[in-house]
Amino acid sequence: MFPVLLLLLLPYVLLQSASARPFSNWTDVDALLAFKASISNQRGGVLDAWNTSTQFCQWPGVGCSTKHKHRVTVLNLTSEGLAGTITPSIGNLTFLKTLDLTLNKLHGEIPSSIGRLSRLRHLHLSNNSLHGNVHTDLKNCTHLENIYLGANQFTGEIPPWLGGLSSLKVISLWNNNFTGTIPPSLANLSALQNIDFTTNQLQGSIPEGIGTTTSLTMIQLGENHLSGIIPAIFFNFSSLIVFSVALNELHGKLPSNLGDHLPNLRYLLLGENHLTGSLPASLVNATGMYGLDMSSNNFTGILPREIGLLCPDYLSLEVLRTGSS
Ligand SMILES: *[C@@H]1O[C@H](CO)[C@@H](O)[C@H](O)[C@H]1NC(C)=O
Ligand SMILES: *[C@@H]1O[C@H](CO)[C@@H](O)[C@H](O)[C@H]1NC(C)=O
Ligand SMILES: *[C@@H]1O[C@H](CO)[C@@H](O)[C@H](O)[C@H]1NC(C)=O
Ligand SMILES: *[C@@H]1O[C@H](CO)[C@@H](O)[C@H](O)[C@H]1NC(C)=O
Ligand SMILES: *[C@@H]1O[C@H](CO)[C@@H](O)[C@H](O)[C@H]1NC(C)=O
Ligand SMILES: *[C@@H]1O[C@H](CO)[C@@H](O)[C@H](O)[C@H]1NC(C)=O
Ligand SMILES: *[C@@H]1O[C@H](CO)[C@@H](O)[C@H](O)[C@H]1NC(C)=O
Ligand SMILES: *[C@@H]1O[C@H](CO)[C@@H](O)[C@H](O)[C@H]1NC(C)=O
Ligand SMILES: *[C@@H]1O[C@H](CO)[C@@H](O)[C@H](O)[C@H]1NC(C)=O
Ligand SMILES: *[C@@H]1O[C@H](CO)[C@@H](O)[C@H](O)[C@H]1NC(C)=O
Ligand SMILES: *[C@@H]1O[C@H](CO)[C@@H](O)[C@H](O)[C@H]1NC(C)=O
Repeated sequence: MFPVLLLLLLPYVLLQSASARPFSNWTDVDALLAFKASISNQRGGVLDAWNTSTQFCQWPGVGCSTKHKHRVTVLNLTSEGLAGTITPSIGNLTFLKTLDLTLNKLHGEIPSSIGRLSRLRHLHLSNNSLHGNVHTDLKNCTHLENIYLGANQFTGEIPPWLGGLSSLKVISLWNNNFTGTIPPSLANLSALQNIDFTTNQLQGSIPEGIGTTTSLTMIQLGENHLSGIIPAIFFNFSSLIVFSVALNELHGKLPSNLGDHLPNLRYLLLGENHLTGSLPASLVNATGMYGLDMSSNNFTGILPREIGLLCPDYLSLEVLRTGSS
């Protein structure tokens, strides 16, 4: 009788001990459970699967280090409809390289404990309802390569110390309420490929120094209150694919050889500014162009017909709106 009972109980005993102490190190699972607890609509969602029936490295959206088996390196829960806040416990996931919470309904601020994530490379928080400043403690994340904070309600200035995060490739802050000027320190980011500050409240001029960051392929600064001239250096930039400064208060003339040094340019969006002078005929030399918006400025002259052949997308439509001609 007794051995039979033991045999019957054995799987149960093993299961119990397995679920009671399945992990050798509790730091990260505690942080994940705190993350789960700070999500207000977790029931019925993806986080239901974050339970002790599986090891936490197998939980959906979680990835662990192969070398340090119980350390979380990836937390990626995009488009899961998560509401709630980002728990400060996230700062305990000190092996995290990727934090992607894009397209959820998170509110509140980025917790300052994010500064403890010294290995963080990819920070993707676009399309949420986060607010507050870009936290100073983010300065500690010296390996950051991508910062995506677009389509939230962030405010304050774009911090000049971003220019000290030398691995940065992408700074995407579109559709927020950032104020102040574009920090000239960004010119120090030699790996920078893509800045997107579209639709904010930025003012002042475009720092010329950014034009010395030769790895830049996309510069998007549309729908702000930028003034001054467009530094000529931006039109001498063979890597440039997108240059968008539409809907600002920029003035001045365009260099007549504008189209001659932009072999990779696809989109040139300069509409709704106060630009003057003649439309550069050299644009016909920017043969890769898909979209050109020169509308609602004070240009004189008309674009050469050949440009119509370059832009299958929406040139013809936009050219009709090209200011006084
Ligand atoms: C878990 O790991 C972290 C970092 O490796 C360490 O600081 C901490 O002491 C460990 N905790 C336990 C309970 O082993
Ligand atoms: C625990 O997670 C598993 C998937 O890993 C899921 O099938 C199960 O329904 C979850 N249990 C509860 C109580 O939600
Ligand atoms: C997160 O997961 C989504 C969907 O699987 C994927 O498209 C995205 O690239 C991932 N994010 C990162 C930063 O790797
Ligand atoms: C981080 O982990 C430590 C040690 O495990 C714990 O004492 C602390 O409460 C955790 N911090 C947060 C914010 O969860
Ligand atoms: C960031 O680094 C500074 C200086 O090294 C340190 O005082 C601060 O506590 C760090 N912040 C976090 C959140 O770890
Ligand atoms: C992200 O947010 C922007 C602005 O609020 C919105 O236009 C866009 O549709 C959102 N993206 C998705 C995939 O919902
Ligand atoms: C920016 O601020 C204005 C005025 O306070 C507000 O109406 C608008 O919705 C805000 N935009 C974003 C993207 O937060
Ligand atoms: C670039 O970095 C150098 C040294 O790190 C610093 O002296 C300089 O002020 C920075 N440039 C800008 C524009 O911030
Ligand atoms: C354009 O760039 C080339 C080299 O990349 C440089 O020699 C030339 O002086 C630049 N011209 C202007 C007007 O900046
Ligand atoms: C164009 O110039 C006229 C006359 O100088 C001025 O009144 C108007 O505001 C200017 N338009 C734009 C879009 O700058
Ligand atoms: C196009 O480029 C060629 C060679 O660089 C130049 O001679 C020509 O004048 C340019 N065309 C226009 C319309 O500027």
